Amino acid sequence: MTILVAVTGWEAEPWVRALKALAPERRILETGIDGIFAGNPGDLEEVRYVLAWMPRADLLSSLTNLEVLLSLGAGVDHLLALPALPDVPITRIVDADLSARMSEYVAWQVLHHHRQGFAHAQLQGGRRWEELRQPAASEVTVGIMGLGVLGRDAADVLGRLGFTVIGWSRTEKAIDGFTTYHGKPGLDVFLGQSDILVSLLPLTRATTGLINRSLLSRLKRDGPLGGPVLINAGRGGSQIDADIAAALADGTLVGASLDVFQDEPLPPGNPLWGLTNLVITPHIAAVSSPKALARNIIEQINAHESGQPLQNLVDPARGY
Ligand code: NDP
Ligand code: OXD
Repeated sequence: MTILVAVTGWEAEPWVRALKALAPERRILETGIDGIFAGNPGDLEEVRYVLAWMPRADLLSSLTNLEVLLSLGAGVDHLLALPALPDVPITRIVDADLSARMSEYVAWQVLHHHRQGFAHAQLQGGRRWEELRQPAASEVTVGIMGLGVLGRDAADVLGRLGFTVIGWSRTEKAIDGFTTYHGKPGLDVFLGQSDILVSLLPLTRATTGLINRSLLSRLKRDGPLGGPVLINAGRGGSQIDADIAAALADGTLVGASLDVFQDEPLPPGNPLWGLTNLVITPHIAAVSSPKALARNIIEQINAHESGQPLQNLVDPARGY
């Protein structure tokens, strides 16, 4: 049964190639990088599955025989925000390759701040040989907001690197080796212990604008890094960019790494670009690799067609 790869801002061709290699018998249609389907509109009647990244709402609503909407990302805010979302099950990516990529990014940024990357670059720029006091990883508490698939994997990796890891989620969790907090009542005590705050939260109504001046001012201030650090690889809509810029300028934060922004691509005029205690990456913390994920997608579709339940279903009411 026919699959449509409906992507805006991504090339569909590598997905089509990877899917065809695994399922040569399937018909696979694709949009252009602008999300527009330029093929025969009559062919859209055959489409049962859409593999989507920021699909166009008008395209989705023209698919009269759609059975499943499969997000090509772990996040689904790009779908749930659409007007007139088709009333079909939505699945998302849960895959070891995506988790490994995210944990690698989180570890890279945590280590950058912990091992004083900015200070060493400055010393090197001034040709100065100077030994900085280096705390042990175990002296630094990393607080992870979002203890889902990605947050738990990152927590394991950071724990193995020796950091003290704590976590915060919406519902209560018991995870061996980590202290966890949940909900509004758990937030302040969680923030008050976090030297490095890592956000791997989905974008929902409740998480929109959560990382603001008030939240940043409640992070631990007397830790071994000289002040708190923020790393956000979840969604830009969870943060207030201007509050982060102000916090980095006035010392409320000593450093930050942002992979996601309220406005993407980050406009050239945004003051965040000019901050020397900030690492900016262009939403690449964990990219969805067609080669790695095509098997996961084809297996999901095959299992559905043989009557098995869909995996990694999204709850639209919960928002993730
Ligand atoms: P999951 O759905 O597995 O986990 C989400 C976690 O967030 C859960 O622990 C959930 O709590 C928690 N959460 C949700 N709402 C709240 C809230 N209001 N308060 C506290 N905690 C909350 O998602 P993943 O781990 O797979 O992915 C997380 C996000 O990472 C994605 O939604 C996406 O936005 C982002 N992402 C970014 C990428 C990048 O390249 N920058 C790449 C891939 C993903 P509970 O456990 O109680 O449900
Ligand atoms: C995702 C992303 O949600 O790449 O997977 O942001």
